[in-house]
Amino acid sequence: MKIAFFDTKPYDLPYFEKYGKKNSVEFKFFDTRLCEDTVSLARDADAVCVFVNDTVNSFVIDKLVSYGIRLLALRCAGFNNVDIRYASGKICVVRVPAYSPYAVAEHAMAMLLTMVRRTHKAYIRTKDFNFSLSGLVGFDLCGKTIGIVGTGKIGCVMIDICRGFGMRVIAYDIFPRKDSGIEYVSLEKLLSDSDVISLHCPLTEATYHIINEETIGQMKNGAVIINTSRGALIDAEALLLGIKSRKIGAACLDVYEEESDLFFEDFSGHIVEDDTIARLISMPNVLVTSHQAFLTEEALSNIAQTTVENIVSFFRDGKCDNEITRR
Ligand code: NAI
Repeated sequence: MKIAFFDTKPYDLPYFEKYGKKNSVEFKFFDTRLCEDTVSLARDADAVCVFVNDTVNSFVIDKLVSYGIRLLALRCAGFNNVDIRYASGKICVVRVPAYSPYAVAEHAMAMLLTMVRRTHKAYIRTKDFNFSLSGLVGFDLCGKTIGIVGTGKIGCVMIDICRGFGMRVIAYDIFPRKDSGIEYVSLEKLLSDSDVISLHCPLTEATYHIINEETIGQMKNGAVIINTSRGALIDAEALLLGIKSRKIGAACLDVYEEESDLFFEDFSGHIVEDDTIARLISMPNVLVTSHQAFLTEEALSNIAQTTVENIVSFFRDGKCDNEITRR
C-alpha cells in the first residue's frame, strides 16, 4: 500500500515510519499541503493521508477519485477542512477520533496558568537576572467558575483537571451527558457566570463564531477565554475589540481562524500580512500557540498507530471503524 502523505512535519516521521514498516504500509512524504495545485502528487498512490490544514474540496476529491484513490485518511479528529457531503459515496474518509484528550486539555490548562500567573514574563525576566515582581500579580483559580463549552472527550478531561484546582465547573453542550454529575446550564448563563470559558466543541455551522460581539457582551468583565478547538469558533475582530475595551481579561489561543496561512511555519524575520493576528499577538494578555495542543509523544504515537490501523483495515476488510464517509 502506497500512501501519499501531505503536509509532513519532522515530528511525524519517526512515528509513521515505525507503524508503517510494521504493517507494510509505505508512506511517500510530501512537505507541501494537499490542495488543487498539489493533488497530482497523489497520482500513483493507493490512499492519501492529510492533516488539519490540507484542503480537500470538491475539485481535489474529483481528482483523487480520477486517480483511482479510494481512501482519504485524516490523521486528526476534526474534519472541517474536508467537503464531507461531496466526498460521501465517492471516497472513504477515515479519521483518528481520539488520540489523547489529555494532551489537549493539559495544554489548555497550561495556557490558562501561564496567563493568570504570568510565568511567561517571569521566565524572560529571571533569564536576565531581573527579579522584580511588579506587573506579575495573578489570581487564584481555586474558587473561580469555569464554563466548558462541549463536554466530549477533551471537555471532560478539562473538567477533571479544573475540579482538581478547586474550580466550580459549569458546562454547555447540545447533547448533555446523562448522569455525569456535570452542572449543565444554558449558553447565556455560562457566558454570564464564568470567570474562565474554555471551548471544546467542534466547528460546525452552529458553532461558527459562537464567540462574537454579542456573546462577548454577555460575559463577566475580565473573563478569560481559552480556545484549543478550532479558530473559527471565535470572531477574532470581536475578540480584539473585547480585549481593547478590557471586557476580556485574557485570551489563550491555540487555534486561529486564518491559521492555515501561518501556523506550523517559521515566519520570523518576515512581515506578517495578517493584521488581526499581529494585533492579537501584540496584546500583553493574549497567548498564542500554533495549534500545538495535540503535540505530545503519546498523542503522536496514537495518531500514527490508529491511522495505519485505519488504512490496513480499509484495504483488508473494505471498511473501518473510524469512517466518516463511505464510498
Ligand atoms: P468530541 O466529539 O468528543 O466532543 C465534542 C463535544 O462538543 C460533544 O459533546 C458534542 O455534543 C459537543 N457539541 C457539538 N456541537 C455543539 C454545540 N453547537 N454547542 C455545544 N456543544 C456542542 O470531541 P473532542 O475529542 O473532545 O474534541 C473537541 C474539539 O477539539 C475537536 O472538534 C477539535 O476541533 C479540537 N481538537 C483540537 C486539537 C488541537 O491540537 N488544538 C486536537 C484535537 C481536537
